[in-house]
Amino acid sequence: MKNIVILISGGGSNMRAIVETAEREGWAKQFDARIAAVVSNRPESAGLAAAREMGLHTELLDHRAFAKEPEPRVAFDAALAEVIDRHAPALVVLAGFMRILTPGFVRHYAGRMVNIHPSLLPAFTGLDTHRRAIAAGCRVAGATVHLVTEELDHGPILDQAVVPVLPGDTPEQLSARVLAQEHRMYPRAIAALLRVQR
Ligand code: GRF
Repeated sequence: MKNIVILISGGGSNMRAIVETAEREGWAKQFDARIAAVVSNRPESAGLAAAREMGLHTELLDHRAFAKEPEPRVAFDAALAEVIDRHAPALVVLAGFMRILTPGFVRHYAGRMVNIHPSLLPAFTGLDTHRRAIAAGCRVAGATVHLVTEELDHGPILDQAVVPVLPGDTPEQLSARVLAQEHRMYPRAIAALLRVQR
């Protein structure tokens, strides 16, 4: 069985899209794959509650509990890796997981950790992508699924989705348009990876 572990921090709409697609397309039969766990670093994450309601195995690892450690990021990532590795994952899926990851953590999951970023990489790495794309006068925007490497929002591109930026768009309007495409692209990109892993 190929275990997929999904990491979230917020709303979890991409997580939900992945779980629903896995169900609908029968990833268990097709790829011998299942969503083994959903892990959040924020107790208030709406996605965590949604995952629980969908009957998934969930885990909460609050990064604030590590603030007093001499190296909080290293300590949190070590604890996170322990939680993840209990499921011996074939794939670790970052779905709105708002954490900068330590190099050791990234190396540990090299080649089996993917992220979705709400811009057409390599443009607009980092935060606030939609406001920045509008301010720059971009005519198109979108999202990118990529393998995670040590440099933030870099790494081999697996798929991209493009949407128009419409005159007068607010960041919220553009974000909603992009997110709708993320929900189609991310499950598709993951299925493509599972297919070659078979
Ligand atoms: C998405 O825009 C994703 O691209 C970015 O964070 C957002 C997560 O949204 N990395 P959700 O939690 O999946 O609803």
